[in-house]
Amino acid sequence: MTGRKKTRVAVLVSGSGTNLRAIINASEKDEINASVVVVISNCEDAFALKRAVKHDIPNYFVDLKEFESRDKYEEEIVKILKEHKADLVILAGYMLLAGQKLINEFENKIMNIHPALLPSFPGTHSVKDALEYGVKVSGCTVHFVDEGLDTGPIILQKAVSVLDNDTEETLHNRIHEVEYELYPEAIRLFSEGKLRIDGHRVKVMSDEEM
Ligand code: GAR
Repeated sequence: MTGRKKTRVAVLVSGSGTNLRAIINASEKDEINASVVVVISNCEDAFALKRAVKHDIPNYFVDLKEFESRDKYEEEIVKILKEHKADLVILAGYMLLAGQKLINEFENKIMNIHPALLPSFPGTHSVKDALEYGVKVSGCTVHFVDEGLDTGPIILQKAVSVLDNDTEETLHNRIHEVEYELYPEAIRLFSEGKLRIDGHRVKVMSDEEM
């Protein structure tokens, strides 16, 4: 482990939070020099919030409906992120598009994970779309977040085979397994200062280049 200070990670979620679980595990096992300092959900019943409680991580449900605009909602999110001194914002099954407020405050410090090999199959039904299209290989992508839908600079990708008898569920399960490796790895690289953004490309620096 490096002598750097731990990266303070905030995780935004909407659902089950199995990626959150993988990140918490990697942090608790000291596999990454980072700790999850806050979890925020836009869904009150997200199981991810219960995972945060189990690990004594401060957690918040922020209800978009209670705000007069999307900007006001994001101002509240940014306020919580700042209160918890977040260095990095991780979208992990967060089913809202990050807006300008969030992106401006955390420029190049927001990551998303997507269950397809971008730029193929962006959006919310990517596993189904890839399966219906008939691709033989799919996978997952970790990318920095920009204003677009799943369009930001790609950090890491990993492929999985699509099998003839796959259903959306079996394929997504196989993709999930690689997500649990890839997201902690991307956080590790960020926390070690090894990610350099050059235009739309992300260079992963080797130890020798550091
Ligand atoms: C993950 O497979 C993630 O890639 C996907 O939602 C799932 C969340 O699972 N994200 C998107 O589709 C974003 N467009 P989890 O809540 O168990 O981590």
